[in-house]
Amino acid sequence: MADTDGFKEASDFGFGKAVTQTGFHVKGASNADWGMKDRLSRIFNPKTGRTVMLAFDHGFIMGPTSGLERIDLNIVPLTEYADCLMCTRGILRTSIPPQVNKPVCLRSDAGSTILTELNRNVLIDIEDAIRCNASAMAVMFSAGDGEQEAITAANLTKAADLGNRYGIPVMGVTAVGKQMARDARYFALASRVCAENGASIVKTYYCDGFEKIAASCPVPVVIAGGKKLPEPEALELCYRAINDGACGVDMGRNVFQSDAPIAMIQAVHAVVHDGLNPQQACQLYEDLKHELHAAD
Ligand code: R5P
Repeated sequence: MADTDGFKEASDFGFGKAVTQTGFHVKGASNADWGMKDRLSRIFNPKTGRTVMLAFDHGFIMGPTSGLERIDLNIVPLTEYADCLMCTRGILRTSIPPQVNKPVCLRSDAGSTILTELNRNVLIDIEDAIRCNASAMAVMFSAGDGEQEAITAANLTKAADLGNRYGIPVMGVTAVGKQMARDARYFALASRVCAENGASIVKTYYCDGFEKIAASCPVPVVIAGGKKLPEPEALELCYRAINDGACGVDMGRNVFQSDAPIAMIQAVHAVVHDGLNPQQACQLYEDLKHELHAAD
C-alpha cells in the first residue's frame, strides 16, 4: 500500500460538533437493518445511548482467573445490574441461566491461550451464535501484530459478512500487538480499522488522547477496564472515558475482582448512565458496600 512516508497525522477531529445521525441512538447505525438495530438497542440503552457490558470471557485465554472460578457464585448475581453480558458460549451454556434474559455479546473467536502466542484464533460457527441468541459477536483484531494481524483481520471481516447476513452486529476487540505502544495513535488506528471492516461496536482501551479515538471511530467505542485498579481509580477511568466520548464500558476484572462486585457494578452503571462524577460514584460504591456487608 500505502505511501506511509507521506502519512499525514490526523488532526481535524471536529471536537464539540455532534455527529450527524438520523433517527437512531447508536452511532453509525442509522442505515442498518431492523434486526441489527433491534440487537443494538438491546445493548445500548435507547434513553442514554450507552451500555454497561459485563465482560467475563477471560477464561478462554487464561483459564479460571481470580473472580471467575465459580461463575454461578460470582457472576450470576451481577447479571441483573449489567446491560449486556460478554462471555464465551461454553460459559453461557453451562453457567448462565437463560432466565436472566440479558443480551449477550458472544465471544465468537477462539484459539491460542496465554501459554503461547495470543490471537491465533478461528471463528466459531455463526449458527451457534444464532442458537445462543447472540445480540452481538465479539471478535479480536490485533493490529500490527505480525501474522496475527492478518489472521484476526480475516476473522473480523468474515464475522461482519456473516453478521450482516443474519442481522447480528460485530464488536471488534482491539488487542494490543506485542511491539505496539498503548497510545491514542495506535488505538485510533485499530478502532478505525475495525469499523472500516464492518464492526458495529469497537472495544478498546482508555489512554491519553482518547477523545481522538472516539471522535475518529464512526461506531460506538466502549472501553475495557484492564487490570484491577483500586475502585476510586477504576471509577475515575470510567468517568474520563465517558467524558471523552466512550459510549460505555465492557468491564471485567475491575468489577468481578472488586472487594464488593455488586456495589462496584452499580457505581459503574451510575457513571455511565446517570452522569455521576468520580467522587459521587465512590460514595455510592462505599454506601452500597456498607449496606451489602451489613446485610450479610
Ligand atoms: C478482552 O479481550 C478480554 O477478553 C476482556 O473481555 C476485556 O479485556 C475486558 O475485561 P477487563 O475489563 O478485565 O479488561
